[in-house]
Amino acid sequence: MKLAVANLKGGAGKTTTAVYLANALAASGRTLLIDADPQGSALSWSEAAGDFPLPVVAAPVKDLNRRVEQLAEGYVHVVIDTPPGELAITRSALLAADTVLIPIPPSVMDLDRLRPTLEILAEIENLNAPQVFCLLTRVRKGTRSSRAAREVLVELGLNVLTTEISLRESYANSFGLGLTEELGEYADALSELQDQVNQV
Ligand SMILES: Nc1ncnc2c1ncn2[C@@H]1O[C@H](COP(=O)(O)OP(=O)(O)OP(=O)(O)O)[C@@H](O)[C@H]1O
Ligand SMILES: [Mg+2]
Repeated sequence: MKLAVANLKGGAGKTTTAVYLANALAASGRTLLIDADPQGSALSWSEAAGDFPLPVVAAPVKDLNRRVEQLAEGYVHVVIDTPPGELAITRSALLAADTVLIPIPPSVMDLDRLRPTLEILAEIENLNAPQVFCLLTRVRKGTRSSRAAREVLVELGLNVLTTEISLRESYANSFGLGLTEELGEYADALSELQDQVNQV
């Protein structure tokens, strides 16, 4: 799987999602996490962990799609964490991916700011058509907002994973940890993603 985690809006949960899913994928095959964010959050995360279960490389470049083959040599899975607001880098990551996951908190503002990400996907459609999924993150269980957000996303024609990532301290405090067992809801998100991808 070549998975790009993308949402041009800042703070949507991209890095958290990319790191958790890369750790989950690493259990099933050699996995590389590419940090395409110039801020380098995923790389810092792995460095802070010291003993991180998989390699992380920084590649905040606009031609990632051309470099990914070489970077990914010898790996079964590649996960790309993308930056907020950097259209060219995000575009190249979306061109490099066979699967795209858009993490999105169920807030009106986040839904409103989704458009630019969808526009890039539409723009590259003829060059690369990855399978696209949305993952609701920072969900307060038992509130209406996630159901409402899900409806909006489905209405936009998007495929939304049934699994949702709850708003939890444990995710917020996981920076700098290697995540071999504590994968939480991300383990379910990955199984669902893999099932959906295999169906096609
Ligand atoms: N499920 C969650 N529950 C609680 N806090 C979370 C959750 N997911 C992410 N966070 C926190 O929300 C903040 C934003 O998450 P994250 O850095 O993953 O987003 P991002 O999209 O990568 O941000 P950026 O656009 O700046 O790269 C971080 O402080 C993170 O720890
Ligand atoms: Mg990030």
